[in-house]
Amino acid sequence: MESVKDSWKQRAGKKSPFHEWCDNEGLKVVGGFGVADLRTLPLEHWERMGGPAAYCHLEGSQGFVGAMAGEIPPGKSLKPMRHLYEEQILILEGRGATQFWSQEGQVTLEWQAGSLFSPPLNTKHQHFNGSSTEPVRFVAVNNAPLIVNIFKLPEFIFDAPYDFTNRFSGQRDFFSSDFKPSDLEDTAVNFIPDVEAVVLNDHPERGAGFSRLGIHLSGNSMVGHIMAIKSGTYKKAHRHHAGAQVIVLRGKGYSLMWQPGGDFIRVDWQRGSLLVPPEGWYHHHFTTSREAARHLALRRGLKGIGHNWQPSLSEHDGGNMLEHEDEPPEIRRMYEAELAKEGIPFQMPPLARARAN
Ligand SMILES: [Fe+2]
Repeated sequence: MESVKDSWKQRAGKKSPFHEWCDNEGLKVVGGFGVADLRTLPLEHWERMGGPAAYCHLEGSQGFVGAMAGEIPPGKSLKPMRHLYEEQILILEGRGATQFWSQEGQVTLEWQAGSLFSPPLNTKHQHFNGSSTEPVRFVAVNNAPLIVNIFKLPEFIFDAPYDFTNRFSGQRDFFSSDFKPSDLEDTAVNFIPDVEAVVLNDHPERGAGFSRLGIHLSGNSMVGHIMAIKSGTYKKAHRHHAGAQVIVLRGKGYSLMWQPGGDFIRVDWQRGSLLVPPEGWYHHHFTTSREAARHLALRRGLKGIGHNWQPSLSEHDGGNMLEHEDEPPEIRRMYEAELAKEGIPFQMPPLARARAN
């Protein structure tokens, strides 16, 4: 019996195909629960991309989605690439352009810090730095872990001769920044010039001072949302699937993440931070700055796969959002103490009823 147990342990401890691939590629991997600043995260040369990179596969990525921080040196371009994983790219610093190829011709998209776009699946593209003096720093949230864990073979993933013309066939106006209705999220939009300028919708049912806009880019399966949490407020805790990459665009604060019955993991954040809540863990985001916090969450999508989490529906109605009245009471006390340290007023409405404890 012992040897069977040992062999299970050995298998469970084995590296995933994705992590083995990163080792073989010489692509630096970053773990943990959070990254303090994607803009200053140390990178190392990744030959396939032709520039410096680091792959953030945090605890909550769980083999689905991660965030690759990358840089385009001043006056340079990265190598042209196509790949069978989907990617949503946020420009953190700098300006430049990306060229996309299709059978029908080429399309060029110009971008700057704050821009968000998603290369349509398997479309050949190349990124160029538009400055001869400043680097471009970007973060590409992608489902490479999922795709590499399935297919394993880089020559297939990076050289599959198939054009998904149902997603992109060279339309000159493809990267339009018009918001259109979407059945997957609130809106479909293929290019957001500045994520900080997007107008959000108030959602007080998810937290006092909380606003949000769901986005779906380039007809891919990945989705996302931009959200804001006002000064002196925090969002109701909720739980959902793995791999949601939360990137902080503005403001300062911290998040608490915990497994039901487990200890709190605290991640402090500011502009440029990344955090990823693991599947099924409660998480709260607390703003401690005078300005509202604004986050961009880029997620795996894949409706119908795995547990059907409902993070915007109260647990009282069968969903996975924890009402303030039901949260551990020390959470609110900790937040009030954090705000007092910063001299920022607490703006949360009083609890509707005291929790029995
Ligand atoms: Fe979340």
